[in-house]
Amino acid sequence: MPAVSVKVRSLGTLGAEIEGVDLARASEAEIDAVKKAWYRHDVLVFHKQRLSDDDLLAFSRHFGDLDSPPNQGAGRKSPEGYPDVYVVSNVLDAKGEPIGALGDGEASWHTDMSYAPRPPDASMLYSLEIPAQGGDTSFCSMKAALARMPKALAKRIWNLDIKHDGTYDSGGYVRKGLAATNDPRTSTGTPHPAVIAHPVSGQAALYLGRRRNAYIVGLELAESERLLDEIWSYVDTAVYSHRWALGDLVLWDNRTTMHRRDAFDPKARRVMHRTQIKGSAAPKRAPQALLAA
Ligand SMILES: [Fe+2]
Repeated sequence: MPAVSVKVRSLGTLGAEIEGVDLARASEAEIDAVKKAWYRHDVLVFHKQRLSDDDLLAFSRHFGDLDSPPNQGAGRKSPEGYPDVYVVSNVLDAKGEPIGALGDGEASWHTDMSYAPRPPDASMLYSLEIPAQGGDTSFCSMKAALARMPKALAKRIWNLDIKHDGTYDSGGYVRKGLAATNDPRTSTGTPHPAVIAHPVSGQAALYLGRRRNAYIVGLELAESERLLDEIWSYVDTAVYSHRWALGDLVLWDNRTTMHRRDAFDPKARRVMHRTQIKGSAAPKRAPQALLAA
C-alpha cells in the first residue's frame, strides 16, 4: 500500500489546510484521509491545485452523487458540456451576458439550497480567476455556534422547525419563476429541524439556512423574528475567512457550516467553478441527549 503523506493543519475553530495531495490524481488512501479530516474540521482548504472540469467532477464524486446547479435569476449556469459544474462569476461574455451566477456583490450567510427537502451534503469551489482584493469567502461553524449558545436558548429551540425560504438567492435575487415576497409564513420553502445531527459524526449543529424570510414554524411572526435574531447572533462567533489564491479548492460540509462572500470590484474578474454533492438524507433533528453533553 502506498504511503499517505496528507498533512492536516487546523485553522482554528473550524477549517483545516490540507497539504500533500494532488486532487487530480488522489489515491483511495488519500481520499480516505481527506474525508476523515473533513468530518472533523468541516471546511478543507487545498492550495495550488490544477484541475480541469473533469478532474473537479472526479474528485467531487468521491463524496457522493452530484446535484445540478440551483435555479438562479440571472447568468448561465454551467460551462458547455458540464451540466454539473456551476459557474460563480461576475464576468460577461462577448454578448454582454453573464457567464455565471452571483455577480460581484456581497452574498449573505447561507446554507446552499436549504430550501429544498434534501439539501446538498457538501459543496466545493475551485478558483480560476480572482480579483486582487475582495471576494473572500467566510465560513461559520454551526457546531460551535450551538455550543456557544446558552443552554436555555438551545433547549428552547431544540424541538422547533425553521422554514427555509426559497424565494431569494444569497445575493438577494429572486429565483427564476418565483414572485418576490416578504411574508415568510406563506413564501415557498421547506421546514427543517433547528438543531440537526451530522449523519456521520453524530455531532449536533444549528441549522439556519438564510436569515431573510426565515420563519419558526408555529410561532407568531413577531416572536419568530425575535427568536431568530437571538439565534443568529451566535453565527458570527465562530468564523474562518478564506482569502483566495489561484488554484485554491475549498470543500465545505453544507450541514455543519454556513458561508458568505464579500463584495469585490465590479471591474475585476472572478471565476469559480463549483460542484455540489447531493443530499444523502433530509436533515435530522439531533437527539435531545446531545443537549446535556
Ligand atoms: Fe453558497
